Amino acid sequence: MNNTFLKLQHCLAQIREKTDFKPKVALVLGSGLGSFAEEVDIVATINYEDIEGFPISTVPGHQGRFVFGHISKIPVIVMQGRVHFYEGYSIADVVLPIRLMRLLGAEILMLTNAVGSINLNFAAGDFMLIKDHILYGVPSPLIGHNIDDLGTRFPDMSEVYKKTLCEKISSAAKSLDIELHEGVYLQTSGPNFETPAEIRAYRAMGADVVGMSTACEAVAANHMGMHVCGISCVSNLAAGISKTPLTHDEVQEMADKAAPQFRALVTECIKRIG
Ligand code: HPA
Repeated sequence: MNNTFLKLQHCLAQIREKTDFKPKVALVLGSGLGSFAEEVDIVATINYEDIEGFPISTVPGHQGRFVFGHISKIPVIVMQGRVHFYEGYSIADVVLPIRLMRLLGAEILMLTNAVGSINLNFAAGDFMLIKDHILYGVPSPLIGHNIDDLGTRFPDMSEVYKKTLCEKISSAAKSLDIELHEGVYLQTSGPNFETPAEIRAYRAMGADVVGMSTACEAVAANHMGMHVCGISCVSNLAAGISKTPLTHDEVQEMADKAAPQFRALVTECIKRIG
């Protein structure tokens, strides 16, 4: 039996010992959105550290727990904190939580993150609807023996971010009078920020924003037949555009500043996509 699949089943069994909650929407909270759990009528919470085999984040500002509950009667599972490839976990471990949420019953996945903007028309504090992605310098999470119980060997990726969900997110933003750019998210491995030359290259490749999570999660979710959507919060201008050297504190600070609006937007989106 495949190790990845065994670990997944083991994590699933441990969660099922604690709750039989069946979510419809899964939400991954990026930097700054930690307080989002306040929007949820909580039914149960499970700390990642209480799930044997589950990858635990080492990044400052990232909490580590699943929140189960309802937003406007919609059953949701919320990931407060995620792990990144640069933390040293295998790419299979990085996407284990996404696969787990699918096995718990979630059909729709909403991904959020903080990003650096490559597009010169974006400013810090802006939001962007993810229309497509580029996985760059990060292995596909589907490498290795295919787990047929999860999905097919060669999954199509021509519409990872479902158009119908994107339309609902756009109208949610409009209803709140929040400007929402649209564009392409590029995932690098991190943990270093990019060089100005890399940012110019990524712009030429068609990327609008850059981050260190999300695309691999979207690939794993799409493999399992989930309907995926995502919103990025621009925490900084990317290297070479920004006049000052980039720091994690700056990313965190801007993400925190944008958090109230981001929280309102995500809540309205869940109501519409759920
Ligand atoms: N680069 C990569 N990841 C990021 C950035 C960035 O500028 N900002 C937030 N996450």
